[in-house]
Amino acid sequence: HNIESGEFQWSAPSNIALVKYWGKKDNQIPANPSVSFTLNNCKTITTLAFAKKDSSTPLTITNGKFSFDLFFEGKPKEDFKPKIQKFLERIEIYLPFLKEYHFTIDTQNTFPHSSGIASSASGMAALAMNLMSIEKALNPEMTDAYFYQKASLLARLGSGSACRSVKGQVVVWGNQANIEGSSDLYGVEFPNAIHDNFKNFQDTILLVDKGEKQVSSTVGHDLMHNHPYAERRFAQAHENLDKLIAIFESGNLEEFIKVVESEALTLHAMMMTSMPYFILMKPNTLQIINAIWKFRNDTNIPVCFTLDAGANVHVLYPENVSKKVLQFIKDELVGFCQNGQYICDHIGNGALSN
Ligand code: PMV
Repeated sequence: HNIESGEFQWSAPSNIALVKYWGKKDNQIPANPSVSFTLNNCKTITTLAFAKKDSSTPLTITNGKFSFDLFFEGKPKEDFKPKIQKFLERIEIYLPFLKEYHFTIDTQNTFPHSSGIASSASGMAALAMNLMSIEKALNPEMTDAYFYQKASLLARLGSGSACRSVKGQVVVWGNQANIEGSSDLYGVEFPNAIHDNFKNFQDTILLVDKGEKQVSSTVGHDLMHNHPYAERRFAQAHENLDKLIAIFESGNLEEFIKVVESEALTLHAMMMTSMPYFILMKPNTLQIINAIWKFRNDTNIPVCFTLDAGANVHVLYPENVSKKVLQFIKDELVGFCQNGQYICDHIGNGALSN
């Protein structure tokens, strides 16, 4: 197949890890397995137009560079280009057509750009899906299973956690002996049945600090090399994933809360005990955590928090207590959010093509 030009559009959601990925080996191989809920509302929508480059253009002119223009919310975005260039370099061995085309990448998020919500997972997943659509157009015989697996593998090479934003509501990334099909190379949909308690699970994201992070997750992952607690932490992630396998089956929310909150605090404990050490939580992050603990104690409502590599708090709770939890958030937590901002989300299904 020889295709002159075309255009695809995919949206891909963000995801929130329950067992955290923190620490990696070469080629974006995770130091431990992780599992996440796929989100629904927080997503990146990316259009990818492609056109064959003029065959008279000598290849040397490209000087190892890929040929692409990048637009973010309709405006040229020069400062993201090196990241995309690096991503394309990494995946060129998997997509031999990349140097044959000129690309126009047009991308936008459904959440505010400076919200402190990591857009790398949704952004890299959306781009990977589009690139796989070209690959599929060139190789129409490929199966759906192969399409999604390879899309997740490509997304991983853009940003590790992006491989969990491709397909499925609960996604595991990283080798775990007792999870069928799990792999360090791509995310897989959690293979077992999941208890109804987790059906349409809610995630309300409290925007505590929208500023640029002082320490990027790339630097954070790196600091897990020579970290005094790394080996124990990596083993613990396997143990916590084991616990979650049982919890997803039993629907035991008390146990769920213990694992999820402990994972969040351990992630930040790793940051605080690396050299150099750093703290990404803000005073209001702790205020929110304490208020959630008090509310849970007072009401017995199974609501908990998790954190990613930043100050924002993800409030997790089953659908049947939404009304009470949302009231609590409005009454007691919104005051700790920057400009009172929060985003209501829930479990979603993964990337979609338009
Ligand atoms: O995908 P990265 O390199 O941005 O790392 C993400 C790390 C955490 O969000 C903190 C944890 C996770 O598993 O998503």
